[in-house]
Amino acid sequence: MRAIVYDRYGPPEVLHLEEVDRPVPADDEVLVKVRATTVNRTDTGLRNAELFISRFVTGLRRPKNRILGMEMAGEVAAVGKAVTEFKVGDAVFGGKGAGAWAEFVAIWESGPLAPKPAAMSFDEAAAVFDGVSLALPCLEGAGPVDGRRVLVYGSSGSVGTAGVQLAKHFGAHVTAVCSTRNVELARSMGADEVIDYTNEDFTKNGQRYDVIFDAVGKHSFRRCRRSLNPGGTFVDTDLGFMFQMPLLMLATRWIGSRKVKMGIARYARKDLLFLKELIEAGEFRAVIDRSYPLEDVMEAARYVETGKKVGNVVLTVDKGST
Ligand SMILES: NC(=O)c1ccc[n+]([C@@H]2O[C@H](COP(=O)([O-])OP(=O)(O)OC[C@H]3O[C@@H](n4cnc5c(N)ncnc54)[C@H](OP(=O)(O)O)[C@@H]3O)[C@@H](O)[C@H]2O)c1
Repeated sequence: MRAIVYDRYGPPEVLHLEEVDRPVPADDEVLVKVRATTVNRTDTGLRNAELFISRFVTGLRRPKNRILGMEMAGEVAAVGKAVTEFKVGDAVFGGKGAGAWAEFVAIWESGPLAPKPAAMSFDEAAAVFDGVSLALPCLEGAGPVDGRRVLVYGSSGSVGTAGVQLAKHFGAHVTAVCSTRNVELARSMGADEVIDYTNEDFTKNGQRYDVIFDAVGKHSFRRCRRSLNPGGTFVDTDLGFMFQMPLLMLATRWIGSRKVKMGIARYARKDLLFLKELIEAGEFRAVIDRSYPLEDVMEAARYVETGKKVGNVVLTVDKGST
């Protein structure tokens, strides 16, 4: 099968198309023919080993797992003999956090795999899980947000667009912060208020929030703590310079009433099923910036690394019919 592989850490140029063996599903696995996948910040971070410590998981000298691709949507091509929930031909979505930049991927039946929402195309269904996999643990870390004032900083990224939609679903009053070009998008996702950070600094407008969710890792607790209500929480997606965030998390457990939390991405089946319900109820939609064919992965990765993508970048593996 065709797959995008990498054999060393580095820039987008380390990625190349190769013919590799098609995975053979184990008894409890489902083999999915991938129709679409995405290039996201986790893929690019793992590829260039942005955080050296990630190598303790992905391989010290070179990547142990040659195929990236966190999330996907496709059709079941084969099932292991113990599989009962899926059958050949079913349209599915999900992902196991690796292996989706290929024509086929094998996923445990009990892993993050679910029937594709019928009204979504394969491209759309491939581009919803990764943002949620981080935004959901981040919002959960802040405690129940029903009726509370939540500010999502960086509301136009993959995590930010998921954060706004999830916080609205959970009943929060949501303020989205983004640049001018993304104001309409934030409104269309249901944000109650939108602040254009090129015109207004939310830390200086006199407003206070119960939760400030930095969905793009560009703000800081120090700069926005006065915009938090007493008892409020600042949640970040990034470890920060010199692991600042885990240290602040520890410190604010004991000092002061305002807390710092960090979200760790979670690829869990229960979250995928919850997301499917939201999509089917019309409360969550995919935000796609650009789509590239699989073989143009290098170009897609370069674009993701500009830090300018709006929502998600899709790799179409097999166009087929929707
Ligand atoms: N902890 C984990 O496991 C994990 C996993 C994946 C990702 N992450 C982190 O999660 C964060 C978000 O990822 P993502 O994929 O959602 O990001 P992204 O899609 O790359 O975010 C890009 C968006 O952010 C906006 N943006 C850029 N600079 C901004 C700023 N200073 N203020 C506000 N908005 C800004 C950009 O639009 P404008 O430039 O027009 O504003 C663009 O729309 C990243 O920090 C990433 O490292 C963490």
